[in-house]
Amino acid sequence: MAESLTIPTTFSKEEKYKTLLPQFKALIGGETDVIANFANISAALKQAFYFFWVGFYIVKRDELVLGPFQGTIACTRIKYGKGVCGTAWKEKRVVIVPDVNEFPGHIACDALSQSEIVVPLFYKDEVIAVLDVDSELINHFDQIDATYLQQVVNLLEASLSEA
Ligand code: SME
Repeated sequence: MAESLTIPTTFSKEEKYKTLLPQFKALIGGETDVIANFANISAALKQAFYFFWVGFYIVKRDELVLGPFQGTIACTRIKYGKGVCGTAWKEKRVVIVPDVNEFPGHIACDALSQSEIVVPLFYKDEVIAVLDVDSELINHFDQIDATYLQQVVNLLEASLSEA
């Protein structure tokens, strides 16, 4: 695995994602333990983008259970279909919430969080976890984040299939 990240400071958000993706690939390369990879990807995204909260919830029976994350303490369990995370799981799609105050059923783990993006992670066509990223800014996430966070999740999915 890579020992450290080289984080560009002057690029656009898209350039930053493009520069970091190969580094994220190297970071999890050769490691097949899912918790170890979730932990390092959480840390890498937090370190690179200063997101307010970034982490994973893992499917366990009918709910999501808190996994590796970086940020303030968080809710530990989310039911299927509940909140932004449970919605992304149920609908099997990326969910972007520009303003969490306007998302019915949003689960507020920290009142500072204002916008959110959730990307489901699949194994054999089933959602087995979600990547959740929160910002303290309204309307922080757009299609660029959706595209590249999806690619980060794809890297993790590929590491699972090698396990
Ligand atoms: N807001 C999420 C809950 C998880 S926290 O943001 C860390 C939701 O509504 O599912």
